[in-house]
Amino acid sequence: MSSFPKIFVAGATGLLGGQIVRALLDQGVPVRALVRPGTGEEKVSALSTSRTGGLELVEGDITGPVEHLAEAVGDATTVISAVQGGPEVIVDGQANLVRAAEKAGARRFVPSDFAVDMTKLDDGDNFMMGWRRQAAAARVGTALEVVSVLNGAFYEVMTGFMGLIDWEQGTLSHWGDPDQPLDLTSVADTAAYTAAVALDPAASGTLRFAGEVMSMRQFHDAVQRGSGRTLQLRHLGAADDLRAEITRQAALTDNPFDYVALQYQWCMVSGKAKFDNLDNARYPQVTPQSLTDFVRATAPAL
Ligand SMILES: NC(=O)c1ccc[n+]([C@@H]2O[C@H](COP(=O)([O-])OP(=O)(O)OC[C@H]3O[C@@H](n4cnc5c(N)ncnc54)[C@H](OP(=O)(O)O)[C@@H]3O)[C@@H](O)[C@H]2O)c1
Repeated sequence: MSSFPKIFVAGATGLLGGQIVRALLDQGVPVRALVRPGTGEEKVSALSTSRTGGLELVEGDITGPVEHLAEAVGDATTVISAVQGGPEVIVDGQANLVRAAEKAGARRFVPSDFAVDMTKLDDGDNFMMGWRRQAAAARVGTALEVVSVLNGAFYEVMTGFMGLIDWEQGTLSHWGDPDQPLDLTSVADTAAYTAAVALDPAASGTLRFAGEVMSMRQFHDAVQRGSGRTLQLRHLGAADDLRAEITRQAALTDNPFDYVALQYQWCMVSGKAKFDNLDNARYPQVTPQSLTDFVRATAPAL
């Protein structure tokens, strides 16, 4: 029998959640992983073929009845949420999950935050951060200990989804001061820190981690070094110009996902959501990958 407490992970079939499950199982921690009804065999077997030892799969949906969810949480002492979705998932679903965790007798809750320092943002800066801030407000008064893990931007997002790098054109385009420091962490290292937090009985409040803190100029250097390619660094405008561009785009669409990548960039390049301090030293067993090594392993072939 494991000497570790059992941990429940919602969002276990997702990009980050799957890696959190693996990071816990690798250390021999028993995990109950929530899988939505109707989840395809491929996603289920991807989870269960990874170090099967202490893995239990339970079916459920965080927007479902609290009683069912509480049964799913079972005897887990910590509930980690790594879900992604709209307000019905991030605000209402996570509130539901908190109620279920309380009902099941769990002690701790790690919400699906995993971002820049949203505690420093205001409503309107980034609508997805806004949902997480609403979810935090809804948790006030819970008997659970809530520990929020923040990691800045994923390396994967900075080199992909953000749309900064155009490998074909050979450019890296950015807004804001090229010397503004940015907090960046890989998905795997975010998962490793989250597992460390989950196993640390003294962890509390908001903990902030970064694989690297680097300016856009240093990011450009690291991407070039890792990929072995030369990219022209293109400056698109100041942080205020980016804010104006977001306002312009918002007026043209009903779909805020059209400009959410720009909202994330603004939170970073304006410095508003920059971490004031890091908690990396709390978990010296986690040795984060450098951005150069990450790019060396993932950059598309020439
Ligand atoms: N800092 C960054 O750069 C960055 C970047 C990306 C994501 N994140 C954050 O990391 C967290 C996880 O994101 P991700 O990219 O790993 O998400 P993802 O790959 O889209 O996975 C989302 C997970 O949530 C599950 N889920 C969605 N709705 C659910 C519901 N109603 N009930 C139960 N499970 C539900 C999904 O289940 P199915 O498999 O059944 O759909 C999936 O397992 C989020 O907080 C996200 O904002 C941060």
